[in-house]
Amino acid sequence: MKQVFPLSIAQITDIHLFANEDQKLLGVPTMESLGAVIEYLQMHEQELDLLLLTGDLSGDGESESYENLRNLLSPLQIPTYCLPGNHDHAIAMSEFLSFGLISQRKSFERGGWNFILLDSSVPGKVHGHLSQETLFWLDSQLKATKDIPTLIALHHPPFLVNSSWLDSSRLQNPEELFAVLDAYPKVKLVLFGHIHQEFEKHRQGVGYLGTPSTCIQFQPGSQDFTLDPIYPGFRLLKLHGNGTWETSVPRVAFEQTLELTALGY
Ligand SMILES: [Fe+2]
Repeated sequence: MKQVFPLSIAQITDIHLFANEDQKLLGVPTMESLGAVIEYLQMHEQELDLLLLTGDLSGDGESESYENLRNLLSPLQIPTYCLPGNHDHAIAMSEFLSFGLISQRKSFERGGWNFILLDSSVPGKVHGHLSQETLFWLDSQLKATKDIPTLIALHHPPFLVNSSWLDSSRLQNPEELFAVLDAYPKVKLVLFGHIHQEFEKHRQGVGYLGTPSTCIQFQPGSQDFTLDPIYPGFRLLKLHGNGTWETSVPRVAFEQTLELTALGY
């Protein structure tokens, strides 16, 4: 009997690279902290089938920041897909992150799962919103793709995370997203970033997972902007052909001196 292995993926999010390679975000050199994550991924390269980068890949939206990201990712021989967050410049991102194993495709099938990547960014705003065009496209993709387990990814959380300063910038129209997803029981997982902390919630048979940043971390449950001195992290997932999944959030040991000033996030 043929042995079926689960698909192994990593979600990397809120990288916040800058045009200036040495620039820090509140004390954290974001190139170096991502480097620590990439080192981990390199050690597990053989086990990973794909990488999902879920927005705020850049901290300044500059072309050079995406070039820096491309250079850092280049040693990894893992197919990589990405979507924009509020700090990204979608055009520069698609221009520079379309190279080698880095793809700009937003709907694809791999390992018996469908993947659909959404753009929840709103130009000039911190909060997220899914346009009618995006919701219509999501529905059309769910209709057109095979009836196999499906993973959706976007940058902004469709739930409150119990941090009022952060909750104001969540996805502003989650009900419209749920209305589409509820019609397709094949949807099993929704991944997002933006909140720089681990989060898990289940709704109507769908797991909604938020993932730590590869640089600074936000304190869970904080009502005002507060950094958490916990190490940078990312998410690993094993996706089984029957729609079940397992996940873990590794942290990478990284020495950092946080600057505890409020960030205009
Ligand atoms: Fe964000």
